[in-house]
Amino acid sequence: MKVYLDNAATTKMDPEVLKAMMPYMTDDFGNPSSIHSFGRKTRSAIEMARKTVAKHLNVTPAEIFFTSGGTEADNIAIVQSVNTFGIKHIITSPTEHHAVEHTVANLEKQGKVSVTWLKPDGKGNISLQELEEALKAHPGSLVSLMHANNELGTLLPMKEVGELCEKYNALFHSDTVQTMGHYKMDLKEIKVHFLTCGAHKFHGPKGVGFLYMHHEHKLQPFIVGGSQERNMRGGTENLYGIIGLAKAFDICHLEMEEHQIHIRALKDLMLKELPKIIPGIEFNGETSPERSLYTVLNCRFPKHPDSEMLLFNLDIAGIAASGGSACSSGSNQGSHVLKAIGCDMERASVRFSFSKYNTLAEIEFVLSKLKELLAQKVSA
Ligand SMILES: Cc1ncc(COP(=O)(O)O)c(C=O)c1O
Repeated sequence: MKVYLDNAATTKMDPEVLKAMMPYMTDDFGNPSSIHSFGRKTRSAIEMARKTVAKHLNVTPAEIFFTSGGTEADNIAIVQSVNTFGIKHIITSPTEHHAVEHTVANLEKQGKVSVTWLKPDGKGNISLQELEEALKAHPGSLVSLMHANNELGTLLPMKEVGELCEKYNALFHSDTVQTMGHYKMDLKEIKVHFLTCGAHKFHGPKGVGFLYMHHEHKLQPFIVGGSQERNMRGGTENLYGIIGLAKAFDICHLEMEEHQIHIRALKDLMLKELPKIIPGIEFNGETSPERSLYTVLNCRFPKHPDSEMLLFNLDIAGIAASGGSACSSGSNQGSHVLKAIGCDMERASVRFSFSKYNTLAEIEFVLSKLKELLAQKVSA
């Protein structure tokens, strides 16, 4: 049996998504900027895709800009906020994805901004009080805080953060790469200026995403060239990627409740059974349904002679999981997130992340393999 539990890294494409993309990889190939019928057809398909995304977020299509993925969208939101609005201070957290963390650190190094790095607690939570103090000290700054941490699953109270940002006249960017397509978001209810998305996290294609940009906070163009994406991002559009993104986003919203229930049950089974079979196991990040992303469970295993090799041994057993984000291959030693929350780096941490394609039988198989690999030899 092969079990894929690394869905926070990327997900399997839904066959319906591929089906929707196929015509645009074959017969409907016109350049969307061409004025003839071939071009008009693909232009119209892109605008339909934009409408679909906007409808699910309760925003206008003009506020959606397609990008090459989450990383690019995060870069645009942060770098162009600084360039467009003359932001001098950024408030963020060391637990952000590198797409945000490195972008902010680069701006700091270049002397373009000063930065408040908030101190997350041991579960990856941001203190609203600390955030408010930073906002008070630096009104008019840019706040960049992710909705759900990709390694821990810990959720940010977006509404409260949005309200604080408004109170201190700050711009609010949230990396929603792990939560887009997994939660319903009504952007009339959340005071946020920029959100980001990568389609491959919800059964869409890789290399495509979008930036939501509030209509009153229009950024300067990021990629200069043609007038694509309302002059924001020059370059011929990733036509079939955009079609696939919209189809995947649509499916997620139509089937969201059903998948939430199913995936939560998988995570709950692991949460309940793991402490029974591996005494001393602990969880990194929040685990309750209200405070954690239902697709992610990060486990810290007790000290064990084989724990260094745990991910490797799981892989040999046909189980794909991760030591952190996708870039930290094989071990959790490199995880800046686990370090930032003061996690015991001597112990092996493994992130299991689930999707609609996982089954209870798969989770039972994983539990039995973990028991086999670790249970008997765990040192007290
Ligand atoms: C929270 C978060 N932000 C940004 C990204 C980058 O997204 P993309 O792979 O679409 O560039 C990822 C992907 O791992 C992520 O998990």
